[in-house]
Amino acid sequence: MSDWRSFWDSEHSIYVNARHKDVHYREIADQIAAFVPGPTARVLDFGSGDAIHADRIAAVAAEVTLADAAPSVRSAMTARFAGNSRIKVIAPEQVTALPDGRFELIVTNSVAQYLSADELTGLLATFRRLLAPGGTLIFADVVPPDVGALSDVRALLRYAANHGFLLAALVGLAKTIASPYRKIRATLGIAQYTEAQFMRKLADAGFSAERLARNMEHNPARMTFRGRPI
Ligand SMILES: C[S@@+](CC[C@H](N)C(=O)[O-])C[C@H]1O[C@@H](n2cnc3c(N)ncnc32)[C@H](O)[C@@H]1O
Repeated sequence: MSDWRSFWDSEHSIYVNARHKDVHYREIADQIAAFVPGPTARVLDFGSGDAIHADRIAAVAAEVTLADAAPSVRSAMTARFAGNSRIKVIAPEQVTALPDGRFELIVTNSVAQYLSADELTGLLATFRRLLAPGGTLIFADVVPPDVGALSDVRALLRYAANHGFLLAALVGLAKTIASPYRKIRATLGIAQYTEAQFMRKLADAGFSAERLARNMEHNPARMTFRGRPI
């Protein structure tokens, strides 16, 4: 395995146990739900991962579209939400083919670091086109250049201690150190942006941009941005 796409399509130990996955995706779903502007809103969660609590977003929106590059993630989510007509699961290529103004809210959490600069530029242009007038883009968990793996480890251990899975987190970290994650991160690296660079990316794509006071995920050193089409 030598690239991020195949890593995310594999059985990895980023979520150290079922409890970690459960609390992580519950919190992310609740935060996305808090951005939903109203019950008629159509929401896109891009790079959704195993969004096992997407029904919490669907409960306050008209429709939730989960898009992820990993086929294994898509089939798990398709099976999980087969009975929920408000949740659709699609591939990124299908996102590109959607009509203009299709969503009132687009959220992408912890994905920017796995995209090349060109992929990010292309994605922002697609998001700009897909957002309805007055819509909102939330781009979360963007990693600044001075925030490395050690910061992630500290944040995970703090999060695990607060949620009662510290021991599992230590085991999970040991597994991750020995896993393809570390090798891919060491060879390919992750994409990192300063606040000013990411704000410029958003502005260049046609958004008015602001950095929110709090990151959506548990590492407070990473950044969340809100963009509105101009
Ligand atoms: C760190 S996980 C984040 C998952 C989820 N958003 C969350 O909040 O935990 C990154 C996810 O982005 C997906 N991903 C990576 N590159 C992508 C791309 N170019 N298009 C769509 N999804 C992508 C991966 O398959 C993986 O599920």
